[in-house]
Amino acid sequence: MDSPFETLDIDPDADEDELVDAYRRRVKSAHPDHGGSAEEFQAVRTAYEAIRGGYEPGDELEPVETDGRRPTDEGAARNGRHDAGAARNGHAENGTGGEGAGVDADSEPEPDRRGARVEFLDYDVLTDRGWSLTDDDLFEKAAESGLDGDAYGEVFVEPRTNLLKAAEDAGHSWPFACRGGACANCAVAVVDGEVKMPSNHILSEEMLEQGVRLSCISLPVTDDLRVVYNIEHLPGLDELRLPPQHARKMSPGD
Ligand code: FES
Repeated sequence: MDSPFETLDIDPDADEDELVDAYRRRVKSAHPDHGGSAEEFQAVRTAYEAIRGGYEPGDELEPVETDGRRPTDEGAARNGRHDAGAARNGHAENGTGGEGAGVDADSEPEPDRRGARVEFLDYDVLTDRGWSLTDDDLFEKAAESGLDGDAYGEVFVEPRTNLLKAAEDAGHSWPFACRGGACANCAVAVVDGEVKMPSNHILSEEMLEQGVRLSCISLPVTDDLRVVYNIEHLPGLDELRLPPQHARKMSPGD
């Protein structure tokens, strides 16, 4: 079996920056959406967590479990989630947020949650109309503007389902790349309500405080949410993007 360093293709003395870069690169290529497999995806995540946890040669590797479900090749592991634990050396470095706002390493949606209603808006609409994420009446304006159903609407998020998957299950094509919490392609701005991410290794504390979350690993905490998606080109997020997965129209049950 490959060592975690071999799995991530880094030297054992790699620093935090190199580790995060390697993880971001490998988690995408290992994903079933990008020609990898569920096993490879899991191995990359396990390797990353092992190194962050202070892996030493001879240590036993414990497979990373997330929400109790392993990603499957079928369905492109759209349930694929990244629940990395505490950052290497016990904290996040490089200016990225750690266990900050909206980040909960132990997050498990309450078993009796019935799901959440999410009102969404495409950031392109804000650009076109000169609106701002901080407009108090942003969603009221959107509701009155006759926008098409991809730009503005609602989706229902089933329990234990992340925002991105819920949107896709409803037939929407929101941006994404890695589906593993390692890029900013799937970023959304949570305007109202609250979501939890099991961990965060790339968003700064400032971004978190502004409501930026990664939709591929975000689970609703409140019954109602308002989110603006397609914000990946905002300053600070653009450089955290990976080459995008080609958008595709999803069908319910796809
Ligand atoms: S798609 Fe990369 S973090 Fe969500």
